[in-house]
Amino acid sequence: MSSGGKSASRPVVRDDVLLGQIESLASVGLDSGGGRTRLALSESEKEGRDLVAQWMEDAGLEVRTDRIGNLFGILRGADGGLGNALMIGSHIDTVIHAGPYDGCYGVLSGLAVLRAFREAGAVPPRPLVVAAFTNEEGVRFQPDMLGSLVAVGGMPLGEALDITDEKGCTVGEALAAIGCSGGEDPGFLLPAEYLELHVEQGPRLDAEKKRIGVVEGVQGISWWRITIEGKANHAGTTPTNLRHDAGYASAQVSVFLRELSLSAGTTLATVGTIDFEPGAVNVIPSKAVFTVDLRDPDGAKLTEAEKRLAAFLEKTALEEGVRILSEHLVRFEPVVFDRELVQAVEETAASKGLSSMRLVSGAGHDAQMMARVCRTAMIFVPSAGGISHSPEEHTSGEDLAAGVEVLLDVVLRVLGF
Ligand code: GLV
Ligand code: MN
Ligand code: MN
Repeated sequence: MSSGGKSASRPVVRDDVLLGQIESLASVGLDSGGGRTRLALSESEKEGRDLVAQWMEDAGLEVRTDRIGNLFGILRGADGGLGNALMIGSHIDTVIHAGPYDGCYGVLSGLAVLRAFREAGAVPPRPLVVAAFTNEEGVRFQPDMLGSLVAVGGMPLGEALDITDEKGCTVGEALAAIGCSGGEDPGFLLPAEYLELHVEQGPRLDAEKKRIGVVEGVQGISWWRITIEGKANHAGTTPTNLRHDAGYASAQVSVFLRELSLSAGTTLATVGTIDFEPGAVNVIPSKAVFTVDLRDPDGAKLTEAEKRLAAFLEKTALEEGVRILSEHLVRFEPVVFDRELVQAVEETAASKGLSSMRLVSGAGHDAQMMARVCRTAMIFVPSAGGISHSPEEHTSGEDLAAGVEVLLDVVLRVLGF
């Protein structure tokens, strides 16, 4: 414990500044869908990064970037080093037509906590760090959570830099194009604890009228790209029994996945993208390429869903006379967060008179990567109507403020203030 921590006033978050920054960042990359689209390492994301880096500097933080583009704002502790840090983070890249809070709330709340320390003149006993990780969403580059995955040593940097987007642009090229490849080796700053504050992105807190979600872990994720090769033919002359219809086969997979979800209980399955070739009203599709997102909090059930999908693809290929190829894009096991930190979140919410409930995150988060190397926990605040990955994503200012209050108090508690 530093004497600075004792003699300074208690850090206090300025909600108005936090909410103003969330609003400003939300206006970067506005799109025609009524939301914002800041895909990882795009020009609009670069604009967001510059804004956040500037705010880090304005708060008196040391700003560093690593070679996968993860952005860090550092407040050195009394010990002066970078070891044993407490990190707060999330991401500022978005999905297509995104809402204002997913990821940005966590990064800007981390920044708000560090700013509160600076403004109070409080020197933490060890470093406090705010992080914005690269490509959390995984829309442009797969896997998702790429920056945090590389930071914790889950994928070699070279392999990550070679990943391509749909247009063939690599992560390395995209980083260079926006000038965001930093000088630090990924993992140069591995913390002792990691905290992430996030909107729930699901319906439970809102439905149960709870203010704070105490996140016990994150469910497992399995992403696939499936290619079905059939035979193009005339839509008006080809009898049904003579067709090798890639479009029909893909629809069967989609229906099968819904049935699988319903019968398996906790498993969720989504076909989120699909493309047909040649893509004409009067031509039987020769090719269908689509993605599958499978999730389950139980690793064994996720594996079971993968096996059932593989068996169904085999059966469909035989029945329709098509060729089916599947590529595994992402596989992350379910993650359980640190028991003591989770309890600290729960007790902190209670001490502030905020109702809470425990839950497992349905969405993926950088926290699930950081949990590989340090004590980790997450805090959720309600998402109105459970809506996220949509311009309609909404959380009240009151709930946003309550979440950051809990975050600050957990930080103070962990640091022994
Ligand atoms: C990230 O937002 C994911 O869960 O897909
Ligand atoms: Mn997110
Ligand atoms: Mn997201």
